[in-house]
Amino acid sequence: MTDITLISGSTLGSAEYVAEHLAEKLEESGFSTETLHGPELNELPFQGIWLVVTSTHGAGELPENLQPLFDEIEAQQPDLSAVRFGAVGLGNHEYDLFCGAIKTFEQLLNRCGAQRIGERLEIDVLEHEIPEDPAAVWVETWKTTL
Ligand SMILES: Cc1cc2nc3c(=O)[nH]c(=O)nc-3n(C[C@H](O)[C@H](O)[C@H](O)COP(=O)(O)O)c2cc1C
Repeated sequence: MTDITLISGSTLGSAEYVAEHLAEKLEESGFSTETLHGPELNELPFQGIWLVVTSTHGAGELPENLQPLFDEIEAQQPDLSAVRFGAVGLGNHEYDLFCGAIKTFEQLLNRCGAQRIGERLEIDVLEHEIPEDPAAVWVETWKTTL
């Protein structure tokens, strides 16, 4: 079984690149990973560790490629009590709902019984021209909690 399933939600590609960079870092540390961009629910294992990386669009909304998964989870309410997950958001602090999408997604996972591991990382893309950089720093700590 894959150690960590990365799930990305992205419109313009930044969150996707961050997810791929995190997967690389985790692989370098000996974890096996699978990275899925906007997956369907039936592609996901209902156990183990997920790492959700998503930007925010609209007014605090999920990117279009992650919305279908959100809707499926919300409709089916699967038992995710055997899932633990990490949470990384990308956003821009000038919007009212900074990193709203990752917070919304996290709440849904919690409602289905999944528990977050470690602190949520919120990357402000106005402060970090290269969002992979703060993500690489964060994952060093996050991986020690696994
Ligand atoms: C139309 C639009 C709406 C956005 N709305 C929000 C928002 O509500 N909250 C936020 O934190 N960031 C918001 N952002 C900033 C994006 O999350 C940020 O630019 C991110 O890097 C985009 O990542 P992506 O390339 O993975 O889509 C918005 C960006 C755009 C273009």
